Amino acid sequence: MTRSRTSSDVVVDDGTTDADSRAEKSATAPDFPHARTCPYQPPAGHEALTSDGPLTHVRLYDGREVWLVTGHAEGRALLTDQRLSSDRKNPAFPVFAPRAEGQGEASFPLIGYDDPEHARQRRMLIPSFGLKRIAAMRPQIQRIADDLIDAMLAGGTEAELVSAYALPLPSMVICSLLGVPYEEHELFESLSRALLLSETSAEARAKRMEFEDYLDGLIARKEAAPGDGLLDELIADRLAEGQLDRRELVMTAMVTLIAGHETTANMISLGTYTLHEHPDQLAALRADPALMPGAVEELLRYLSIADIMMRVATSDIEIGGRTIRAGDGVLLAVSLINRDAEVYERPGALDVRRSARHHVAFGFGIHQCLGQNLARAELEIALSTLLTRIPTLRITVARDELLIKPATTLQGLFALPVAW
Ligand code: HEM
Repeated sequence: MTRSRTSSDVVVDDGTTDADSRAEKSATAPDFPHARTCPYQPPAGHEALTSDGPLTHVRLYDGREVWLVTGHAEGRALLTDQRLSSDRKNPAFPVFAPRAEGQGEASFPLIGYDDPEHARQRRMLIPSFGLKRIAAMRPQIQRIADDLIDAMLAGGTEAELVSAYALPLPSMVICSLLGVPYEEHELFESLSRALLLSETSAEARAKRMEFEDYLDGLIARKEAAPGDGLLDELIADRLAEGQLDRRELVMTAMVTLIAGHETTANMISLGTYTLHEHPDQLAALRADPALMPGAVEELLRYLSIADIMMRVATSDIEIGGRTIRAGDGVLLAVSLINRDAEVYERPGALDVRRSARHHVAFGFGIHQCLGQNLARAELEIALSTLLTRIPTLRITVARDELLIKPATTLQGLFALPVAW
């Protein structure tokens, strides 16, 4: 895909927009993003991007220059600014990996829409992710965690934590919430992984269409034999009433199914690894389990697994002494925003006792994570259960043997070998 516009059409600090300053920017904007070398630290070189102030320029793989927001105040202000759009159909929407080229065609509900359409889509789902509903799911989540740990313990004295615990736990939970049969997990997990990791747009498109076919078939099966879950409710209350068309339902199922398991799975395995790399913090948590809810917030801040959020400006915006022009691409560097020294003392230190409030690990504004109550409940239960039931757990690989996910997808580990 050819990108015609560049975000170098900006007014720089001194107010110039001339060709010279454009040429200079093009020559100097650093490539972005880079892969993490330590799974819980921002990639090497990213911190240097804050030296320009809260906004800077970076260059994407396709040569396009976009804004990168690294300041906390500016990031939160921009995430609530209606002049920034999430509409992937906008030809100026930034693309940061080949697999996302042509992403407008996918029409992912919620994440790819602006209000009022986005608000309509979100209203249908909010009740299922509210605090009360999620609190009622806690005993079930606890049972799932205990059963998985029973199986790990029964299997010997070592395991691969992602496949034995971190992935199946959120996968089972989101299946139950949506009404997707968990027996089909290998298929939807591999399709999700392929979508998030495809090298080319053709591969991503083929996998998305396979995923759409699978979910369309699942909805047909549910129409014939209704079950018990959010998808069944949407079929009965919305699809049948004509308030929702079938493709939108299929794509809503895809977004919630993918977001519902991949994110939390990465947090559980990476959170476990990170705590073991910080024995003092692990000891503090063991000594005082009441610290867990705060520790989860701190891990969300510290790990920033959804490290890049993307938008396109639809009007000019003055912010942080800069002018973002209509048509400019804007990326938000979550791991840098969450380590802004103006907001967090010793931002580079993991401190389970700190108040990590106001992090943007779940985003902010109208797109703030729909599943955050669920994710928090799962993380608290998953991490405390692991700590208490397998107190001698240890990581059995060195850091340089860990397989870290690439920069352009959700951050996490492909595998985490452990023993006890
Ligand atoms: C620790 C785990 C999670 C993290 C770090 C996370 C992170 C995020 C972030 C950063 C966004 C905002 C994206 C943007 O503004 O462009 C988001 C949105 C979203 N998340 Fe999560 N998420 C997590 C878990 C979940 C879970 C369990 C679900 C369950 C279905 C979920 C569903 C969604 C949905 C549907 C949206 C789009 C909301 C909208 O656009 O209105 N997430 N998430």
